[in-house]
Amino acid sequence: MHAPTYSPQNVSHLESGSASLPARLKVVVLKPLAEDQMAALRKHHEVVVLSSYTSAEALDAALRDALHDAHGLISSGLTITPSLLDAAPQLRVICSVSVGYDNYPLEAMNARGILLCNTPDVLTETTADTGFLLIMATARRAVELANLVREGHWKHNIGEAHFGSDVHGKTLGMVGMGRIGAAIARRGALGFGMRVQYSNASPKPELEAELGAHRVELDTLLESSDFVCVTVPLSPETERLIGQRELEKMSSHAILINIARGRVVDEAALIACLESGGIRGAGLDVFEQEPLPAESPLTRLPQVVALPHIGSATHETRHAMAQRALDNLLLALKGQSPLSAVNVSHWTRKG
Ligand code: DGY
Repeated sequence: MHAPTYSPQNVSHLESGSASLPARLKVVVLKPLAEDQMAALRKHHEVVVLSSYTSAEALDAALRDALHDAHGLISSGLTITPSLLDAAPQLRVICSVSVGYDNYPLEAMNARGILLCNTPDVLTETTADTGFLLIMATARRAVELANLVREGHWKHNIGEAHFGSDVHGKTLGMVGMGRIGAAIARRGALGFGMRVQYSNASPKPELEAELGAHRVELDTLLESSDFVCVTVPLSPETERLIGQRELEKMSSHAILINIARGRVVDEAALIACLESGGIRGAGLDVFEQEPLPAESPLTRLPQVVALPHIGSATHETRHAMAQRALDNLLLALKGQSPLSAVNVSHWTRKG
């Protein structure tokens, strides 16, 4: 017997009436996807979109209300608490439009059999571009000097007081050598002739062969790198990994780059170190508190380039991330393995 083949006609017939089709489930979307993606989602499921709330309390109340009978959630950025999960007894999957998942209560999700999907790979190169942007901008003082021009203070040829430092040929120390770390290291080694060293839980022999990179202890990396670039995920082990002790190990000409999570670096210690000239500068895409409060010294120190968490924020990449979250959700709600997830082994799979 041949398996049935579906023509466009019998697909639409099936969609309008067959009992064998998977049920339409309820999906809550916290971050609206592109129009084509929303249409694809609505084709399969009932969708409730929550956006534009005036306060965190109002959003929390709306979310609890929407989640009480929801099976799926597409989210990003928002901190999901175990108490929110209690308000969502039918929830089967949360799809985050992000690679990082430190804002989800993984243990509580595991205990409830809820799947957590993320979006690795599709954002690797864009986030590495942001990392390299921060390396270049801090080394060459691009923001500070562009502001000087903008504010009408360019009256003479630029002199030594405004010189930056070279990037090419310098030593790049990668704290963490996952996908994004490797993509930054590749830019440094192959594009800028940088010597790459890294600290990572496991060795990366292929990268060592490809880039001539060396794995070293964190202290050695801090003491001997011109650029220290932090790319480790936030976890109890990496929280405040770079504190006063670590900053003091860095050379006064070195630059710290953080594109991981703000809490991996002790921000107060970093500010003190920058203010006392302990390191030359910092390029930061992430902060302990986001949005960064306007009164933070990091907004006014000229040797700091602070970006509003834009690691993956390009049209192309955010669309690809949303697509990955959508694909993950559609698969998971059918009980099929998603393209990327962090806790499949704890998932109570239902089709
Ligand atoms: C990520 O994908 O984790 C980015 O940092 C956005 O949160």
